Amino acid sequence: MILQELQLSHYRNYEELSVSFAPGINVLIGENAQGKTNLLEAIYLLAFTRSHRTAKDRELISWHQKVARVSGVVKRTSGRLPLEVQISTSGKRVKVNHLFQKRLSTYVGHLNVVLFAPEDLALVKGAPVNRRQFMDMEFGQMSSKYLYNISRFNQQLTQRNAYLRQLKYGQQSDRILLGVITDQLAQAAGEVVVARYQLIKRLEKWAADLHHHISKEKEELTLQYVSQVDVNDQMNVEEAVAKLRRLYSENEEREIENGTSLIGPQRDDIHFIVNGQNVQRFGSQGQQRTTALAVKLAEIDLMKEQTGEYPLLLLDDVLSELDDDRQTHLLTAIQDKVQTFITTTSLSGVARQLIHQPTIFTIHDGTLSKEEDK
Ligand SMILES: Nc1ncnc2c1ncn2[C@@H]1O[C@H](COP(=O)(O)OP(=O)(O)OP(=O)(O)O)[C@@H](O)[C@H]1O
Ligand SMILES: [Mg+2]
Repeated sequence: MILQELQLSHYRNYEELSVSFAPGINVLIGENAQGKTNLLEAIYLLAFTRSHRTAKDRELISWHQKVARVSGVVKRTSGRLPLEVQISTSGKRVKVNHLFQKRLSTYVGHLNVVLFAPEDLALVKGAPVNRRQFMDMEFGQMSSKYLYNISRFNQQLTQRNAYLRQLKYGQQSDRILLGVITDQLAQAAGEVVVARYQLIKRLEKWAADLHHHISKEKEELTLQYVSQVDVNDQMNVEEAVAKLRRLYSENEEREIENGTSLIGPQRDDIHFIVNGQNVQRFGSQGQQRTTALAVKLAEIDLMKEQTGEYPLLLLDDVLSELDDDRQTHLLTAIQDKVQTFITTTSLSGVARQLIHQPTIFTIHDGTLSKEEDK
């Protein structure tokens, strides 16, 4: 899919902006603090209705303004689709094809993006929560069923944790109600666990190939979805739910003592194994980078496999973080395939040579100008 047009109004340091993008590689060049990341963030917001940098929507509204608006036209094989996100001090509203949507969940999935920023190394190096967020964001945009189940799970988990806290402090004593809440949670949890397992398997298929290639055939990458449920290829949702119910009942006393849920996919993780070793714990910086890059690139292929279309790729300041070899892999993997937005302070080296016909925009103080073909 392609983002053909983008309009911003009172978004961060952009007052009013209207721009048409090229289907291939769009390079956004600017000094520090001119609005490069803000622009990618706006595209990300148009896809997910939220920023990748902050959970506080108000921060996105230009200072001294009350309403920020991001709109755009996405071209998919099914046709052109206008999307819009409005953020005001009183909340957020979204439109698909000019119609307001009652729920944010009917909005997500129309524009698919994969964002790669230097902090994405945290996917491999960071805490498990980073990897769970990764699964939820990425799988949520490729599958509305996943999005539905994970939202339902998160709501029910909050509810159950609140109830467990009340049981802990003796404000409640009804164990039958706990059983009802737990049964519901186990149902959503079972769906999430099985979907994550299956999608990680698909992701592994693409990531292993890419990793093998980037490491010059020296390394083998495998991905392991780590869950208390021990999912495997044979396990279906009912079996996962049954297993979860058993775990909940075995751990009920412990959960009440702790006043929180100790069982469930909110505890899961992904292990990245390179040549038999967990790369998070034992990998070199370079191996961790290669793994993060392979997984991000694999997402592009997985998205195409699951949705029938390639997502947009947003690369925020990553070229400078990658050595020439990895830059070459990245650029050849996406060229002529994926609409890409690259931010950088200057386009040089391998990137300058490798990108055929980039469309170059210069960003200065919240304004964009297109460099005409030279
Ligand atoms: N709500 C807002 N209203 C107005 N300006 C804002 C708002 N939020 C952030 N800014 C400004 O936007 C500017 C540009 O930020 P951005 O992160 O896009 O820079 P950048 O071009 O990516 O720089 P770098 O190369 O350092 O990453 C910042 O200087 C910041 O002061
Ligand atoms: Mg930036």
